[in-house]
Amino acid sequence: MNLDFSSIAPSIPFILKGIPVTLKIVSLSALLGFIWALLLALLKISQMKPLMWFADAYTSVFRGTPLLLQLILIYFGIPQLTGIEVDPYPAAVLAFTLNSGAYMSEVIRAGIMAVDKGQREAAMALGIPYYKMMKDIVIPQAMKNILPALVNEFITLTKESAIVTVIGVQDVMRNAYIVGGNTYRYIEPLIIAGMIYYVLVIILTFLGKWIEGRMRRSD
Ligand code: ARG
Repeated sequence: MNLDFSSIAPSIPFILKGIPVTLKIVSLSALLGFIWALLLALLKISQMKPLMWFADAYTSVFRGTPLLLQLILIYFGIPQLTGIEVDPYPAAVLAFTLNSGAYMSEVIRAGIMAVDKGQREAAMALGIPYYKMMKDIVIPQAMKNILPALVNEFITLTKESAIVTVIGVQDVMRNAYIVGGNTYRYIEPLIIAGMIYYVLVIILTFLGKWIEGRMRRSD
């Protein structure tokens, strides 16, 4: 075995510098993606044909094409089509938001559908407006059930964010590559990068479990 971590040890802080970049992209995309997904899910159950059709078609396209391709099209395609330069960072956030929104919208839709019909009927019988019924009664219950699936999605997003390296964002992955290029040793920095992603995912998992526990306690 020929692994030599000592020669890349001085570069480890450089790889670690990618963590805030990765975290910023992931957290922003997760948040924006969630909001977008909630809207899409509401469109899907709206019973209004054009809105339902739009949300379904959107989901179909963004789930049906590679995320890597969406990222590249946004980063290189927008400037070519509109003449407006896009920085790699917002391009990444946009691509992840649009993609993740499609996946999450189905999770949220399933969660809403799983809330007992009687809840809605009771709300309607009490004359509670649709918006309030969704916001205060249906969605909070749906959230509890879909939390594990959402954590899954955030984990996917964290790992998938490594593809921003193709548009030059200096995240964990790209910094590991750069160290490889400078030291002629790729395996060691990539193992470090792998460990960093794994730790991030473990933290996310714990956070998810913790929130789940708290939600259960409030039952
Ligand atoms: N590599 C997959 C793709 O290109 C990942 C999609 C992201 N998945 C997700 N749940 N957001 O389609």
